[in-house]
Amino acid sequence: MCGIVGYLGKRNAYPVLIKGLKRLEYRGYDSAGVALLTDEHKLNVYKAKGKVADLEAYASDKDISGTVGIAHTRWATHGEPNTANAHPHMSSSGSLAMIHNGIIENYSVLKKQLIEKGVEFKSSTDTEVLIQLIDYIKTTSKVDLLTAVRSALRSVIGAYAIAILDKDNPDEIIAARKSSPLVVGIGEEEFFIGSDASPIIEYTNKVVYLDDEDIVVLNRNKEPQYVDFDNTKVDHDVTEVDLNLAQIEKGGYPHFMLKEIYEQPDCLKDCMRGRINVEANNVTLSAIIDNRKHLINPRRIIIVACGTSWHAGLIGKQLIEDFCQIPVEVEYASEFRYSNPVINNQDVVIAISQSGETADTLAAIELAKSKGAFIYGICNAIGSSIARATHTGSYIHVGPEIGVASTKAFTGQVTVLTMLALALGKERGTVDQQRYTTVISALENIPSLMLQLLEQGDMIRDISRVFTYAHNFLYLGRGYNYPVALEGALKLKEISYIHAEGYPAAEMKHGPIALIDEEMPVVVIATQNELHDKVLSNIQEIKARHARVIAIISKGDETVKKLADATIELPETEKCLEPLLASIPLQMLAYYVAIAKGKDVDQPRNLAKSVTVE
Ligand code: M6R
Repeated sequence: MCGIVGYLGKRNAYPVLIKGLKRLEYRGYDSAGVALLTDEHKLNVYKAKGKVADLEAYASDKDISGTVGIAHTRWATHGEPNTANAHPHMSSSGSLAMIHNGIIENYSVLKKQLIEKGVEFKSSTDTEVLIQLIDYIKTTSKVDLLTAVRSALRSVIGAYAIAILDKDNPDEIIAARKSSPLVVGIGEEEFFIGSDASPIIEYTNKVVYLDDEDIVVLNRNKEPQYVDFDNTKVDHDVTEVDLNLAQIEKGGYPHFMLKEIYEQPDCLKDCMRGRINVEANNVTLSAIIDNRKHLINPRRIIIVACGTSWHAGLIGKQLIEDFCQIPVEVEYASEFRYSNPVINNQDVVIAISQSGETADTLAAIELAKSKGAFIYGICNAIGSSIARATHTGSYIHVGPEIGVASTKAFTGQVTVLTMLALALGKERGTVDQQRYTTVISALENIPSLMLQLLEQGDMIRDISRVFTYAHNFLYLGRGYNYPVALEGALKLKEISYIHAEGYPAAEMKHGPIALIDEEMPVVVIATQNELHDKVLSNIQEIKARHARVIAIISKGDETVKKLADATIELPETEKCLEPLLASIPLQMLAYYVAIAKGKDVDQPRNLAKSVTVE
């Protein structure tokens, strides 16, 4: 949450910073700000409530010169989203400006101590406390900025990625991280920093991912200097990022979310590339080959994740139990991290995270590691904190997901979990050979079936428009499609602000049925399987209460067509792969309802793409 970007070089910093903020806006968008050091050593700070465009409008008649600067787009944690609380924050002396992503947990104690020493505060943020502390140490102890930063960070508890400008040192930016991501971009006589590589890749593909408790000093005339809090030199390899601009731009779509929905067939091909070989009748995940002894015979598997990734985990549980006969538990990372789990070195923990930066998932990993479990990560963001914290893992390779509502990452996660279940099941001898062969070839065929489904976009848009009146939605599914119902409901509430709940269809009569009336549409995933008749009865019960039903059905299912008010047909596939198809119309339904209601689908209120705080 919060995006930070910095530039030091020969270009005008402002356009680089604004463009960078726009690429990071998915991380937070309640206020934005920029600090620039001019050639005359003037430190100009401009801030605005709202989005980066509001900052641009505000700064349009201001001095935006300078070849060094830092900028921030905020997702409020401490202090309401207003201009005073927007970053950058300045120290009282006016010489330091800082941007921060994270939370300083002991800020109130530090603030009290500083107030007692006469320091005055202008905002109610934790960030201002840190920059005031750094400046206080710098001036009272008469030390250089790096020493002051090291000293201040030693007294701070919390999570942070920070970058600091010093008016008295115009050729330098100092940045540091702990539990919040920070990437340094290395160009030709220029440096960049970013919360991720997206603001950097337009200029250079050479990056360094900082580790926890790393500090970097970027100086115009020197190589970057990396040290820890004790000032011990830290070595870092420069990594080449494999990201291109087209991947992080809208490519003609009105919203990232729609682009990402339509990208799914290609994304899943990328996800399966080199891993599925239908001719050889094989699924290969290098993580399994390399870690056979840990993965082949665990006592059980615990999946930890949040939000959409947790829904993918619920599908993963069914797949792994089905193909591998290993007991699987699925835990919210936020609950798991504060529990006292009975877990040891015979257990495998699978951590699922699109961003690879979710604070709760990261903490759950650390807890499981401390108890000896072997950790397998399923991430999208390459080089992310979670990817680096796990013992092994498989990337989903679906490219950057910018829309706050997760779409292609969900289907990518489910695809990796399917491959994992198949590969592990084969190694363990728990999957029937014929079924293995059938599922592999059906999985390989999913991208082309998705294309057929996506062709129904206009029809789904028309259906969606009918349902914008609703204040509540119910989503029902069974078996493999129960998590799809949960995910469909989450998508709708995230971006349209319509309350929605997902339930296993048979649970309806144990409570939710009381809510059903003509005002409450019900989305039912009612594909043909052994429970089809039971779901059919649920639909009849719903219709008897005059609610409208949108049914996701198997192609040609005339029975449900006659009952439901609207139907969306899925092409035929294996039952265990249906979530990959059924989730597509639900993503589209949420998207088009939100659009019809005039909502900002890519940046819904109060949400952020990367939840790096608890
Ligand atoms: O990056 P992660 O997968 O760890 O994120 C987890 C959740 O924050 C995320 O899935 C969230 O629920 C999405 N906004 C869902 O669309």
